[in-house]
Amino acid sequence: MRPFVRGPILLILMNHSRTQLIAGNWKMNCSRSEAIQLASHVVATLKPVDAQLLICVPSIHLADISRLIANSRVLLGAQNAHWQEKGAYTGEISVNMLADYQVSYLLVGHSERRQMFADDNKKVALKFEAALKNGLTPILCIGETLEQRQQNLTLNVLQVQCEAVVKQVGIKAFANACVAYEPIWAIGTGQTATPEQAQQVHQALRAWFAEQDEEIATNLQILYGGSMNAGNAEELLAQPDIDGGLIGGASLKADAFLKIYSAAG
Ligand code: PGA
Repeated sequence: MRPFVRGPILLILMNHSRTQLIAGNWKMNCSRSEAIQLASHVVATLKPVDAQLLICVPSIHLADISRLIANSRVLLGAQNAHWQEKGAYTGEISVNMLADYQVSYLLVGHSERRQMFADDNKKVALKFEAALKNGLTPILCIGETLEQRQQNLTLNVLQVQCEAVVKQVGIKAFANACVAYEPIWAIGTGQTATPEQAQQVHQALRAWFAEQDEEIATNLQILYGGSMNAGNAEELLAQPDIDGGLIGGASLKADAFLKIYSAAG
């Protein structure tokens, strides 16, 4: 992966028409009543701007929240699913089960799943493929550890994570997908990548995609994730290659989350 953008790619960037996507990742938080309260607050106080708003909630709350956001601008996502349609996979839910609940996005390859639940590149690619087959938009999460960054391996790590998916589904499939760059050292730590650090990686990532397909790269939403909050969102989202955010902690407070959303518009 090349760290710098070359001439023709700069031209493409100037002509893009990417909408920003602000995605909340609630992780394993919220009781049923807290989930209903949080989503209701978001729906009730949302002031629409020219950006998309998504909440990825624990699967057990999907039925409640899908009813609650119906007829609102809020989109619904899930945090994980199995790639098989059905079968003897105790404890799992399939992507086509999600489709029954107006779920339109699926997080795949979040670093917490990679690190704690053995979601390797192959499984991530299969989940990505299953999401597409069921009409969901996969958000491919990628990111490096602090150690990898210190060893200057960031772009290699991201490239390997993306290549596994491209190999499974082909580059054109990214027309219906998003990527979320989430440096692992920035997740839940309060230590955000600086806007410059994030932009540099996003630009290099887009250049890598452009080497395979310029149109796909031009239109691909690349989100930043890792301690994004109401205070730092505006500067991050102002970067030319940052097309939104994947927000954990700050998505659990409706006001903070909606402030980030406003900064995207
Ligand atoms: P954070 O989490 O915003 O709490 O750092 C981001 C994520 O894990 O998606």
